[in-house]
Amino acid sequence: MPALKNYDARGLHQADLDHCIHPWTDFAEWTRSGSTIMVRGEGAYVWDAEGNRFIDGIGGLWFANVGFGRRELIEAATDQLGALPQYSYFTNLGNPPAAELAARLAELAPGDLNHVFYSTGGSAANETAARIAHYYFDNLGKPSKRIFISRGNAYHGSTFLTSALSGKMGEKPGFRFPDEFVHRVSEANCYRMPDGIGSEAEYCDFLVDEFERAVAELGADNVACFFAEPIMGAGGVLVAPKGYHRRMKQACEAHDVLYVSDEVVTAFGRLGRFFASEDLFDVVPDILVTAKGITSGYMPLGATIVSDKVFEGLSRPRADGGIFSHGFTYSGHAVACAVALANIGLMEREDLCGRVRRTGPYFLERLETLGELPIVGDVRGSHFMLCVELVRDRETKEPFPEAIAIGKRVDDQAQARGLIVRPIGNLCVLSPALILDTDDIDRIVAILGESIEAVIADLEREGIAPAAA
Ligand SMILES: Cc1ncc(COP(=O)(O)O)c(C=O)c1O
Repeated sequence: MPALKNYDARGLHQADLDHCIHPWTDFAEWTRSGSTIMVRGEGAYVWDAEGNRFIDGIGGLWFANVGFGRRELIEAATDQLGALPQYSYFTNLGNPPAAELAARLAELAPGDLNHVFYSTGGSAANETAARIAHYYFDNLGKPSKRIFISRGNAYHGSTFLTSALSGKMGEKPGFRFPDEFVHRVSEANCYRMPDGIGSEAEYCDFLVDEFERAVAELGADNVACFFAEPIMGAGGVLVAPKGYHRRMKQACEAHDVLYVSDEVVTAFGRLGRFFASEDLFDVVPDILVTAKGITSGYMPLGATIVSDKVFEGLSRPRADGGIFSHGFTYSGHAVACAVALANIGLMEREDLCGRVRRTGPYFLERLETLGELPIVGDVRGSHFMLCVELVRDRETKEPFPEAIAIGKRVDDQAQARGLIVRPIGNLCVLSPALILDTDDIDRIVAILGESIEAVIADLEREGIAPAAA
């Protein structure tokens, strides 16, 4: 383990405040508190510049699947850096790790998803899926198929188009979006089903009907694809009703709409499989998008994997001489691809998918014990993708007012106790490294429980006691 460097914690804090613009930032709040500067990771733990150690409950940001400090990945990166860090990957230039990784991904991905386009992360990989869909339909003589259907509360990225695909309304104020390309249908939220719907089966019918109606209203000739996360991540760790994805895929097929499975979070073991779409949700998508866990975050990499059918349409010669003019300097980045190969190798050697299949149910079971706390409305998710939803009133599911920042309060309490959780509105989201054992899981759940109790005590002191308490 490398020695912890002596950092000038205060200097770094100030340099960060003076010169950095962080993503997803409430500038007023950040100016008051500044950033926690993280300096080292080992396994499922991270240390900040002041030497505090935390259990990393969020896997960096849903990506540190094999944990930090893994020699195999570091060596793969340094070996490739020595050989050739990157070279143009445009047109007819390639490199060994990119070719080998594409072959591995084609083996691991479902069905005939055999063709890989590389980018640098999830947003660029989803953006690529959208551009591929347009180009594919244009090549097929169907240029009017241009609209993307996505879901409320979805998160598909932060580029101009993917932020429009995303359905989290709180993230919209102040920005402009290419909305003419996007139509949104409802997310599948089994905790908050619409009034009058009594079962998940009925809810599934409702959601599929809504999609069918949307396609009919937009005109199937105008719809290019449907984007869906197998389990919605940042939108609330929402598990759709049984059969939902398969039926949405069937509806897509009926209308010549491509089904894009956004597996940026759900792939590479988080749900106990390399890819979740087919193994868990019975769907072979037309396009599968992944990133994050593909390298466990050791290098930035995104992959858009398309079926034989899509590739055939994409690669047809065009009468106007147009070519597939899309790509990035770091497409097929040799070091990133080498790290991804090492990551997959390590996951296979340590059977991390099997491990998650064994420990995942225990994690959920332990987390469900927090359901006894008076502000815990729901505990949900699957395997290593879990969340606790906090509510003011468990009977009515009334959320806390936004100004109370309930998730952030719990996160602050957890950090003070050595655990990092991700606050998203009223949610505490957990997506740790897949290497956790049952003792680590017990610790996470114990700290989270104590943190929620501490927040309840604070709320009571402030006179905002939960309705059901
Ligand atoms: C489901 C999903 N898609 C896409 C993205 C965007 O990925 P990136 O931040 O790597 O661009 C994310 C990021 O969290 C995600 O959760």
